[in-house]
Amino acid sequence: MRIQRVLLLITCIPLLFISTEATQPPFACDSLNPSTRLYPFCDTSLPIPQRVGDLVSRLTLEDKISQLVSTAPPIPRLGIPSYQWWSESLHGVANAGPGIRFNGTIRSATSFPQVILTAASFDDHLWYRIGQAIGIEARGVYNAGQAAGMTFWAPNINVFRDPRWGRGQETPGEDPLVSGRYAVSYVRGVQGDSFKGGKLDHHLQASACCKHFTAYDLDNWKGTTRFVFDALVSIVLLSLDLAFFNGYCLLKALPFLCFFGAFLSVSLQDLADTYQPPFKSCIQEGRASGIMCAYNRVNGVPSCADFNLLSKTARGKWNFNGYIVSDCDAVSIIHDAEGYAKAPEDAVGDVLKAGIVGPFVIFTLLRINILVSCFRSTRGPSGNGYGPLRSGPTYWMGVIIKVTDWPS
Ligand SMILES: *[C@@H]1O[C@H](CO)[C@@H](O)[C@H](O)[C@H]1NC(C)=O
Repeated sequence: MRIQRVLLLITCIPLLFISTEATQPPFACDSLNPSTRLYPFCDTSLPIPQRVGDLVSRLTLEDKISQLVSTAPPIPRLGIPSYQWWSESLHGVANAGPGIRFNGTIRSATSFPQVILTAASFDDHLWYRIGQAIGIEARGVYNAGQAAGMTFWAPNINVFRDPRWGRGQETPGEDPLVSGRYAVSYVRGVQGDSFKGGKLDHHLQASACCKHFTAYDLDNWKGTTRFVFDALVSIVLLSLDLAFFNGYCLLKALPFLCFFGAFLSVSLQDLADTYQPPFKSCIQEGRASGIMCAYNRVNGVPSCADFNLLSKTARGKWNFNGYIVSDCDAVSIIHDAEGYAKAPEDAVGDVLKAGIVGPFVIFTLLRINILVSCFRSTRGPSGNGYGPLRSGPTYWMGVIIKVTDWPS
């Protein structure tokens, strides 16, 4: 398998086949380290669930909490290096996130056209080959010691119905079916699956992430920002068929319709017909190893705190088995911008109970000490007895193992 990978690199991207004696990528279980190499989680001949179970059983509560951020610190006691969850690869491996650095022997990667343009080819073989090239280049950058993680926060598959959004060029457009097909091809290419799927063994070439889950397509419009946007998805509003409105309620712009949308109760039809299909395909057929929940609320509930969305739908109905990350600061805004959670600890408790089991990105308000106080307080989840932290790490540690195993 290693030989195949090297051949692929030589064939496709000679530039990336560079001897890197000096810098090695971060990997656990260094065979030169006698104190760690005997751990079962380091034994690459064991099945990944067994290795993850062994690793998680060795983590303390503080270890687990420390890993709940995008810049996860090392756990030297177990020989585990730091891990950077945040890397970007929307239309090529990019240094837009902190995980990728073009400051060594590799100075750049291939930049493909914007997704809205690529999608207009309606060519899913092309989308797959672009994904493949991105996955191979990502692995090349990692092997050259210039990547601090292999989790990439792409594709962006929000349905682009509203030109005021400002991020439409990142997406495959307004058609749920095309967006879903794009997601499947891109993810299979990046993660190292075959075009038709089903070839993925337990290792990932790189990890792709379906974002932003869900009904996110407004960033800043007449005083309504993505941080407070509440998408009211209603069959009543849909039947009004306002081109301007697109099934959404802009709280400040159209308070009257907003009131009606809320009053006449919210239907799941618009979600089922339009906003969810790309995510369902991305997860079920693409087998993406990550999901990012969105800033906005849907029918009043922040996406990242929505148990129905994350646990019942993604994990329950679609059998999603990877990590869930919040968008940057999407946990802190649940308290400070939206006031949905009364205290920062409640925001953390809400997202964990909803099913975020992976890193969530914390920059401003919610720092580690707040997390710790959350787990210690009576208000939030408490101690080691808290369910999501018992089972959660198996998802996110599993993804790390799948992308960072280093041939011994
Ligand atoms: C590249 O940037 C990273 C992150 O800032 C730094 O840790 C590393 O030392 C840099 N490498 C070189 C060769 O400058």
